[in-house]
Amino acid sequence: MRHLMNPLDFSVEELDSLFDLANDIEKNPAKYAHACEGKKLATCFYEPSTRTRLSFESAMLSLGGQILGFSDAASSSASKGESVSDTIRVISCFADICAMRHPKEGAPMVAASKSMIPVINAGDGGHQHPTQTLTDLLTIRSLKGRLGHFTIGLCGDLKFGRTVHSLINALVRYPDIHFLFISPPELRVPDYITDMLHEKNISYEEVIRLEDCISRLDLLYMTRVQRERFFNEEDYVRLKDFYILNKAKMELAKDDMLILHPLPRVNEISVEVDDDPRAVYFKQVQYGVYVRMALILTLLNINV
Ligand code: CP
Repeated sequence: MRHLMNPLDFSVEELDSLFDLANDIEKNPAKYAHACEGKKLATCFYEPSTRTRLSFESAMLSLGGQILGFSDAASSSASKGESVSDTIRVISCFADICAMRHPKEGAPMVAASKSMIPVINAGDGGHQHPTQTLTDLLTIRSLKGRLGHFTIGLCGDLKFGRTVHSLINALVRYPDIHFLFISPPELRVPDYITDMLHEKNISYEEVIRLEDCISRLDLLYMTRVQRERFFNEEDYVRLKDFYILNKAKMELAKDDMLILHPLPRVNEISVEVDDDPRAVYFKQVQYGVYVRMALILTLLNINV
């Protein structure tokens, strides 16, 4: 039995197979419409979500399976003090696979260690968000035609943004990637990540102003400032609108630069940018469903 806790749990070759499967699902959805008949997915979400939970549920329904779960810790027995270890033992009696989001870093890992069914980390605190990373990689591979040989700017809250941490971890395995970390000093990427880049001899720069570097980017990964992880509201209010990508800034960008965003968006991308063909963040959401379908099939060992 296999779980997914970290994007690095899959080798580059395994990810290639997963993305090939996701692209086949995109082209031939009918072929997979009954693949998970008789199987159930549990979504155990102790933290709010729109995309991740619903895209897992949409993925399982599109595979002909069924879904159950909770979307709020307050409506589960966690509110009575039940541990994730006990909860997953119970969920193992009800479902064949579980996607879990939790505000505590490592909680899905604890669940996986006690689980009788595959567990997927659907986001743990500020740590990792592996299925968002799979979504991001599939989007880049499908729309750019390659993973590697590009300059990527990651912009916004690089301190608390778990999608950023997961994506950097995953991208370092591909060739010739140059990172530009664009953030205010208070929200710079954690030292453990820059230490890892130094160790691997991977090039990066830290920049404060998006305007100073946007023209060099092949990919721009925007993120929101993570209000829920701030210790005080004053700091959040001061930093929340530090970056606003608008049409004027997009005029400085390459014609084929893609804008990605894990969403939800707050103010960091002006809605006037949404019609720009380079804005692919809503396409990215659709790729998230295909890749989660491929992941469910892979973890359940179902071949179509
Ligand atoms: N991208 C993402 O994780 O969105 P949700 O928080 O809505 O699931």
